[in-house]
Amino acid sequence: MCGIVGYVGGKSAAPTLLEGLRRLEYRGYDSAGIAMINDGKFQYHKKKGKIDDGIARLLSAQPLRGNIGIGHTRWATHGAPSDINSHPHFDESGRIAVVHNGVIENYDRIKARLENHKFVSETDTEVLAHLIGEHYERLKNNGYQEGCNGHILTKSVIEALKEVIGTYGIAVICTDFPDVIVTARRGSPIIVGVGGDEHFVASDAIAIAPYTRNVVYLNDYDVVTITPQGLQITNLGTDTAKIQVSKLELDPEAAERGAFPHFMLKEIFEQPKTVQNAMRGRINYNEGTTMFGGLNMSTAELRAIDRIVMPSCGTSWHAALVGEHYFEEFAHIPSEVEYASEFRYRNAPLEKSTLVLIITQSGETADSLAGLRESKRRGHKVLSICNVVGSTIAREADGGIYLHAGPEIGVASTKAFTSQITVLALLAILMGRIRNLSINRSTKLLRALEKIPSQIASILEQNEHIRRIAVKYAKSEDFFFLGRQYNFPVALEGALKLKEISYIHAEGYPAAEMKHGPIALIDEKTPTVFVIPKDSLYEKTFSNLQEIKARKGAIIAITTKDNREIGKCVNETIYLPETEEPFFPLLAAVPLQLLAYYIAVERGCDVDKPRNLAKSVTVE
Ligand code: G6P
Repeated sequence: MCGIVGYVGGKSAAPTLLEGLRRLEYRGYDSAGIAMINDGKFQYHKKKGKIDDGIARLLSAQPLRGNIGIGHTRWATHGAPSDINSHPHFDESGRIAVVHNGVIENYDRIKARLENHKFVSETDTEVLAHLIGEHYERLKNNGYQEGCNGHILTKSVIEALKEVIGTYGIAVICTDFPDVIVTARRGSPIIVGVGGDEHFVASDAIAIAPYTRNVVYLNDYDVVTITPQGLQITNLGTDTAKIQVSKLELDPEAAERGAFPHFMLKEIFEQPKTVQNAMRGRINYNEGTTMFGGLNMSTAELRAIDRIVMPSCGTSWHAALVGEHYFEEFAHIPSEVEYASEFRYRNAPLEKSTLVLIITQSGETADSLAGLRESKRRGHKVLSICNVVGSTIAREADGGIYLHAGPEIGVASTKAFTSQITVLALLAILMGRIRNLSINRSTKLLRALEKIPSQIASILEQNEHIRRIAVKYAKSEDFFFLGRQYNFPVALEGALKLKEISYIHAEGYPAAEMKHGPIALIDEKTPTVFVIPKDSLYEKTFSNLQEIKARKGAIIAITTKDNREIGKCVNETIYLPETEEPFFPLLAAVPLQLLAYYIAVERGCDVDKPRNLAKSVTVE
């Protein structure tokens, strides 16, 4: 949610900033802006709209010069998307520029205090820029001595941040110091890239990966002064902090779209590989169990867990719902999925033996992070299942499991979902094997999981068939997605995918619950996508399907390949390979993703940048 970049070094800053913004555009695309310092003056562009339509065009028509600059791609919180509300924002004197990701909650009070200042935008960030400027003027006028007090710009930022309530990842530059960037974080991610005689700032390592492997992940309250030659760090809370350089293991090309028209399609097609990566090195067939390097919990500790709570958001919340079935079915551990945004403010009873497990692709979602912190504050063990290595949740959890799915750029999550389910299955099998799960059953499950990547590959071969179905139903304005048991969460996910990228109203329901109300909405204009494998509940689910058919709703059935007779009762059929019952969601997710994708394409929607959304939601 909002992406920020910064560069200081010997090169022209503009190409690095623009490329960085492109790589961060998944975080927001309401507007973008860049400010650089040249000859002691700001040069800047700010433009509403997506990067290639706005700022990139401006930059090629009127290039900016300088070896230092900051940039921002915006997901609007305070103030509508517009050129004026775009970042960077400047202080009263016009000497200080700020880019910001987060929310300054007390901005109106600070604004009221700065009564002589003239604000041009409606944003909270502009207030922060003015506040930093105010402290800068005061320190300068009082004859501030740098020495052991630190750089005056850093000191001004620190004084301003002490007054701020809210969240921030910021980068600040000042025309008086054309070789200094000050960056700081609280709640929103910041990564500093360390080069030879150049440094980078970004909200996500993806923006830095083409230039350096050496990065510093900022912790909350860290404030860093960056020059081409080095970094100085301080922490607002502890007053001490150390620069810790980590090695980035991220292939910069993994963030390229390649020959695919959209990241989303590329990521759907990556799933045979990403599901494989989620399992690699984690299965022990001799013992019919699984193993993970980073759980940081002994077998005795894992055995002592008698409840699992999973606060998560969005698609990760849906994956957690599948996980709930796995923990209960394979390990008999009572499990609950929580909306992280609700969990964080609720006094949810957590016993000593409760494990809090956060599922998150980005590792930066503000509500999930707050859930983690609240649980840790209460003294609970927190594990995470996370994709982004080095992300805040991965670092703050007591232990965790990485998905190893590679960067997910498409705003609609796809490959992370199937990887999350895979990892949840492996973890539940581990929990089961130290309880009552027999080796025969676990081996069967593991053998079935092993086949999933090639089965997904075979489903992807039906791409054209699924595209044709999508085109046929693309004009519908309402959809239902139904499934039962393991397949109810995947029905929810199918509906979410469609809503997110095509703006069609869609609802996911447990198939048998329809008759308690929602069936009133079914008519000949409302198609239903039914996830209906030939499983132990098949006959019951088939009756639910008949209830829809009797109301003249068109039905797209996603079923198992031996179930030929269903073809006679429904309008469209997508046949999937057979697997163990619990793992059908891993297969069913793929045609649901493709259906949503092709419907959105048919409707002319911008699949990778759907309206109003952002991928990494770092505000409440
Ligand atoms: C946003 C994204 C969703 C994602 C959710 C949770 O809403 O648009 O695709 O599922 O955040 O994100 P996380 O990174 O925590 O999985």
